[in-house]
Amino acid sequence: MTRVAYVNGRYLPHHAAAVHIEDRGYQFADGVYEVVAVQGGRLVDGDGHLDRLDRSLGELRIAPPMTRRSLEAVMNEVIRRNRIDRGSIYLQMTRAVAARDHPFPRRGETQVVMTAKRVPPPSPSVADDGVKVITIPDIRWERCDIKTVALLANVLAKQQAREAGAYEAFLVDADGAVTEGSSTNAWIITKDGTVVTRPASNAILDGITRRRVIQLARAAGFKVEERSFTVGELKAAREVFLTSTTSYVTPVSQVDDTVIGNGKPGSLSLDLRARYIAFMERHAAA
Ligand code: PDD
Repeated sequence: MTRVAYVNGRYLPHHAAAVHIEDRGYQFADGVYEVVAVQGGRLVDGDGHLDRLDRSLGELRIAPPMTRRSLEAVMNEVIRRNRIDRGSIYLQMTRAVAARDHPFPRRGETQVVMTAKRVPPPSPSVADDGVKVITIPDIRWERCDIKTVALLANVLAKQQAREAGAYEAFLVDADGAVTEGSSTNAWIITKDGTVVTRPASNAILDGITRRRVIQLARAAGFKVEERSFTVGELKAAREVFLTSTTSYVTPVSQVDDTVIGNGKPGSLSLDLRARYIAFMERHAAA
């Protein structure tokens, strides 16, 4: 089956989909994006993602290219044409094609690109073994709350993790507190069972999975605290996990050279993972 991409109003074969070389996304990373999970052919937490997209566009003063309804219609069409049951959709909006010059172009239409892919069911080994994380300095800018395509520091961090044999890099601010992962939010569970994640601010991306897990954890009777935690607390935690649209809830069994708990995913993280997967499946069936 040919994969289909959406580019500025046209559905094109994925291999032939392209934007102009003077797209400001290409030249300046002047654009925003979202990654939305698809389950049962439907968007998971679509409203949360599209609200965040509106916010990112607003913060960068990029004009929304179409109404929410039209955008949802295009996303559903991309899912349909690619026959996605379980997978994800990537959507990117940039500040137009214009001759290269730093200030915003006077006129220009927001460029829209969408792709979708199938994703296999989550691998059982993640739940059996957990993943390794490294900690490195957070060298990003002060607007990490905007989901911009300017991801160079994140790319370097993820590559450093891969080269260290790790799944993710947790980024650490100048005060020694963890901000988030290079493409995930970071969590600990303290010895007394409190679930802790950094509060939403300009220092992190307020993950849609993060918000959903806070809600599911509270509904299940967990105490949840939104506060900063240090690398020391991270390494001494009873359990550690990370969240994102594509990682769901993933237990962490090692941070740098420190083994967390008994080196196996913790029972509370696995419980939250099961609750999140059940939420996605309920959502697909609804
Ligand atoms: N990454 N923090 C950062 C820096 C991220 O890039 C992401 C998402 C998250 C988690 O957000 P959410 O739960 O809304 O997916 C946190 C996406 C998946 C990506 O760039 O591929």
